[in-house]
Amino acid sequence: MIKDSNIVIGVTGSIAAYKAVDIANKLTQDGANVDVVMTRSAQEFVTPLTFQTLTRRKVYTSLWDESNEGVVHIDLAQKADVVLIAPATANIIAKLANGYADDLLTDVVLATRSPVVIAPAMNVNMYENAITQENIQKLKDRGFIFIEPVEGRLACGVYGKGKLAETHHILGIIRTVIGRSGDMAGKKVVITAGGTREPIDPVRFISNRSSGKMGHALAEAARDRGALVTLITASTMDYPAGMDIIPVNTADEMCAEVVKACKDADALMMTAAVSDYKPSNVAKQKIKKSDQELDLHLSKNTDILSQVKEDMIKIGFAAESNDIIRNAIEKLHKKELDLIVANDITQDAWGFGSEYNKVTLIDGNENINELPIMTKRKVSDVICDWLVSNPKWTK
Ligand code: CTP
Repeated sequence: MIKDSNIVIGVTGSIAAYKAVDIANKLTQDGANVDVVMTRSAQEFVTPLTFQTLTRRKVYTSLWDESNEGVVHIDLAQKADVVLIAPATANIIAKLANGYADDLLTDVVLATRSPVVIAPAMNVNMYENAITQENIQKLKDRGFIFIEPVEGRLACGVYGKGKLAETHHILGIIRTVIGRSGDMAGKKVVITAGGTREPIDPVRFISNRSSGKMGHALAEAARDRGALVTLITASTMDYPAGMDIIPVNTADEMCAEVVKACKDADALMMTAAVSDYKPSNVAKQKIKKSDQELDLHLSKNTDILSQVKEDMIKIGFAAESNDIIRNAIEKLHKKELDLIVANDITQDAWGFGSEYNKVTLIDGNENINELPIMTKRKVSDVICDWLVSNPKWTK
């Protein structure tokens, strides 16, 4: 959805303006047409040439620039699929909250009917000031989307909330907004990710090599096509933006959250590598080393997929080291799945922790679709393609 979309980025006068360069660059690399509008103060921090070089497009700095073609503020406002203001100062927020139109950026925002996403960055006291907070609330009430700043050491040396949100988070929100009209729009999808951790004592646990990359990539792919995603994750990776995140540790925690989330969902994709066993007794104190052998007694975890009774599309994953197709087909039927995604975990070029995966999709009629090696994101897109073409999905 991001490819060929039209994104206007408004850059205002905060030191975080340098981070907008990365945002503009990444959106351009993803195939978006990025038009940058800079306020006068923004140009004190970064030059228009920096953005122009990366976006390969004219950068707009004034309504009165003689090289502008057409009615520039209206043209930009109309063609934008989304307007992002990053970083947004207290000043631009105040101006927008009060309907000012005294420079090109405020003109564009006032003239657009597209979603406007605002990512503030400023000193913590300015951010927490009641006037700024009132202005933010006023804009939120009018439908503006805010990406909260994060806590950290600010450029002024103070520690507090005011740093521009992380680039990957801002990009995730932009993708969510642009994906709203995608082919998964309005559908609720529950996705699990990562390897669960079963505690032995307060410091140790049993887990597996699953990184969570496949599940997180799948969650991002569904989000980018408009799905309302609930990601129940045991992964320690950064969480994707634009979805409900439910962090869990154990298989029991994951099971409870999956059952709850599936009550009103359209599809469940169980990407997580769920521990089949857990220590029967979790020691309250750290187990001390001794000269004796240590026996660990394990009890079986519940099969999460079998606990989901709702009539929805269920997709399972089968990480296998031998008899891959035969084992996957057995699981497909035993777990009453609509699709199973099988992969061979003995190959280092893909699988655990890799950006790549090589999978075979097997549907309920045992139709086998062996895919070539692909990025986990591309695999996710193919799974979403299968999902939206399934007759149960459109019901
Ligand atoms: N799964 C589950 N609950 C479990 C174990 C697995 O819902 N307690 C799901 C996984 O998320 C995956 C599918 O079942 O989508 C297959 O998982 P896998 O570990 O391959 O199958 P198991 O049934 O655990 O069989 P085995 O480990 O013996 O291969």
